[in-house]
Amino acid sequence: MYTVPEGNTVKVGVLGATGTVGQRFIALLENHPYFVVHALGASARSAGKTYALATNWKQTTPIPSGVREIQVNPCVPEHFKECAVVFSGLDADVAGDIGMNHNCFSPSS
Ligand SMILES: NC(=O)c1ccc[n+]([C@@H]2O[C@H](COP(=O)([O-])OP(=O)(O)OC[C@H]3O[C@@H](n4cnc5c(N)ncnc54)[C@H](OP(=O)(O)O)[C@@H]3O)[C@@H](O)[C@H]2O)c1
Repeated sequence: MYTVPEGNTVKVGVLGATGTVGQRFIALLENHPYFVVHALGASARSAGKTYALATNWKQTTPIPSGVREIQVNPCVPEHFKECAVVFSGLDADVAGDIGMNHNCFSPSS
């Protein structure tokens, strides 16, 4: 079992962050005791925009303030190299092309 040293946090990434599943991950990660959302990925349509501009937020809670201004990047490993864990809301057809070499969790994993 991985234990987080006291006072430390774990940087995490979310793939497909602008979609329904990605938004759910982000909402669930708000105020998490260890995990801090550090990197967000989506398609080329969203890349380069801030998260608040890129996503059509549909959750019942507001967009967490800590992610609003994070820039969305393409879902390629170089943008997630500082993340210990990556949560994926990508469709399997897309995820198969990404080649992410992380501890990666998706709803189907
Ligand atoms: N929605 C649900 O309740 C639910 C529940 C369980 C499982 N699932 C499954 O989870 C997966 C995602 O569902 P969803 O409803 O979240 O879909 P969605 O709302 O359409 O979101 C798709 C996400 O993937 C990104 N994306 C699309 N093409 C991409 C590409 N080529 N490269 C990188 N990112 C890409 C989109 O970015 P842009 O915004 O930039 O296009 C968006 O962030 C699907 O396989 C779905 O079957 C969904």
